[in-house]
Amino acid sequence: MMVNPYDDSRLMLALQIDHSRVAGFFAAHWGNKDFARPEPYSSVVMAAQEHDIGWWEWEAKPSTLNEKGFPLDYHDGSLKYLGQLRLDFYKNAVDHILKRDPYAALLMAMHGVALMNAGYGRYAYPPDRSADPRVKSYIDNQEQLRTKLVEQLRQDDTLKPFVSDEQIWTNYEYIEVFDQLAQYVCNRYPLNSKWRKQGPSDTLNDVDVPTKHGRQPVKVKINTVSENRAIMTPYPFDVDPLVFSINARLVPNRVYKDPEDFLGEFYRAERITVTHSLASA
Ligand SMILES: [Fe+2]
Repeated sequence: MMVNPYDDSRLMLALQIDHSRVAGFFAAHWGNKDFARPEPYSSVVMAAQEHDIGWWEWEAKPSTLNEKGFPLDYHDGSLKYLGQLRLDFYKNAVDHILKRDPYAALLMAMHGVALMNAGYGRYAYPPDRSADPRVKSYIDNQEQLRTKLVEQLRQDDTLKPFVSDEQIWTNYEYIEVFDQLAQYVCNRYPLNSKWRKQGPSDTLNDVDVPTKHGRQPVKVKINTVSENRAIMTPYPFDVDPLVFSINARLVPNRVYKDPEDFLGEFYRAERITVTHSLASA
């Protein structure tokens, strides 16, 4: 759950499952003369769309508050507050998707591991938590699954072209980019708010953004020019501007005396749709 100040009296809650759908929308529109459309297209889009869907298990009833009695924000420390559940629900989501699309499940498993091992050691944040035995066991399990899925997908004639190590890691990078961008737009309100200190920067934490096969990745820059519009340079989408919407809900900005107090406000909350756009310079 992304907990953002909305106005003087309310918080805007963007659920991880809704943020996930925004990532899928970005994936679906990715590609133009400078940026290749991800392939296999529907698998990568589905992986982006479902990458945080495991959170449904908790967000259906978000019954843990943070130490201050406020709704649990995704940067409060999900492993600290939710423990084994946090690891299990990522694994469960991969198992669900596996039945429909093993390639998407492969990318989701890699994304889930990356959240726990500092992006396979390539990112500074979130930190490497693999020294925790619970985390180590989760990572070992998902990495075994990765090995098995890669072997399986390499036997599939239609997917074979997309299962080289290079292709898989490029698609992993795509998912990171879609996630970072979808965090950026969901973890603040309005879009040009500077309130949020953790999470993706204006350069999406300098994540490598794939361009085209055989070409170097680039870094992107986001410039929020108004409350609902940002300029993205270089611009990766197939339409310009790209208009997108985020489902969210509004709850009182106050200390909650216990989980039931919060859940009442959460379930009764006014639902809103926030609409922003990304455009080229
Ligand atoms: Fe995410």
